[in-house]
Amino acid sequence: MNILILGSGGREHAFAKKLAESNKVTQLFVAPGNAGTATVATNIPVDLADFNAVKEMVLKNDIKMVVVGPEAPLVDGVHDFFLADSILKNIPVIGPQKQGALLEGSKDFSKQFMEKHNIPTAKYQSFTSKTLSQGKAFLETLEPPYVLKADGLAAGKGVLILNSLAEAKSELEDMLSNQKFGSASSTVVIEEFLHGIELSVFVLTDGKNYKILPSAKDYKRIGEGDKGLNTGGMGAISPVPFATEAFLQKVEERVVKPTIEGLQEDKIDYRGFIFVGLMNVNGNPYVIEYNVRMGDPETEVVLHRIQSDLVDLFQGVATQTLNEKSFQVTNQTAATVMLVSGGYPEAYEKNKVITGLDQVTASTVYHAGTKLENGEVLTNGGRVMAITSLGNTIPEALEKTYQSIDKINFDKMNYRRDIGFDLV
Ligand code: AMP
Ligand code: GLY
Repeated sequence: MNILILGSGGREHAFAKKLAESNKVTQLFVAPGNAGTATVATNIPVDLADFNAVKEMVLKNDIKMVVVGPEAPLVDGVHDFFLADSILKNIPVIGPQKQGALLEGSKDFSKQFMEKHNIPTAKYQSFTSKTLSQGKAFLETLEPPYVLKADGLAAGKGVLILNSLAEAKSELEDMLSNQKFGSASSTVVIEEFLHGIELSVFVLTDGKNYKILPSAKDYKRIGEGDKGLNTGGMGAISPVPFATEAFLQKVEERVVKPTIEGLQEDKIDYRGFIFVGLMNVNGNPYVIEYNVRMGDPETEVVLHRIQSDLVDLFQGVATQTLNEKSFQVTNQTAATVMLVSGGYPEAYEKNKVITGLDQVTASTVYHAGTKLENGEVLTNGGRVMAITSLGNTIPEALEKTYQSIDKINFDKMNYRRDIGFDLV
């Protein structure tokens, strides 16, 4: 069958590479894709916000399954659009409908969901401009640091962690009264700060059954030692050594099962990935956030370790027979390091020629912000490519990745040399 992947990052290249291995796939398309996806699939330029354009492309290319990479089309209702269309409704979409996507699209919704279904998470309250003074009073009841979250999608920038009460109050006012994050911050969640170590667990569900995929830890800050501005992610490791069997058992019992049961109870037909951002607090899992998609660069290590046919799993999702499917994961560790444009996550330049890719043999290059022009691969974004390797240990996987990186070059290339530093 023909499959279409929506998106253009490292995550989508990892999906494309994995799906291209399946003998169930006739033709693979990625919209809009990048220079990497072009090597395993056909890229189609399209604006993902234009669902009618997506429809046209699906019909023209006889697409029989759609895999949605990023959250925005899900939150905007691309799956609902398919279900509402008499022709498209029989084409399975991997990714939740609008209501399920609220788990990521609205922090307030996700906190209410967790509270209702007894899923461990930080204590919280939500406020609007009308309840600003109550919000300030709530801050006074908390210990620093203070966590403020814009309710809606804010391109990964909507979470503020502040050490002083005065600063927290003034930021709260800025978010609610001055729309610091536009309409995304017309509601703000204030929550208790959780002390612990973060990791992510990925779940694939058909709404009734689920599979827990490998865990991963990503490195969000731009600077070594986890310093500096937040980014989309600078590297990732899978599996996570401190995610022991006993801990993962708690995650399954306390988080995954009640999440899937909660979705059913709330009549939310959820078919797709759930990315559970967790804090390990003294050996107990607390949910920091849900995302309704795979992570990037987590996909570049999680999918990299999965040895089974992903199309088969997706068919299980589409037909609600995921319980009949199984999958294998390599015991090896996967490590990925993101090469980024100098200046990212602030202003950076594009259109730099990338050299040395053909010299990389011991690692997999997952393209993110790249494009192909006149036979050359050029940078086309802040996060440019993720270099993934397998090894028997974290240091072994990382060493391969860093040796591969030594062969790659583009003007003002930057990356973290300490991915995994806290795990070894
Ligand atoms: P998010 O954008 O929701 O992933 O949040 C960004 C980052 O803020 C997370 O990855 C955590 O490192 C941190 N964070 C969010 N909520 C909390 C919390 N309640 N306690 C401690 N850290 C948090
Ligand atoms: N790497 C974090 C994310 O995909 O949200």
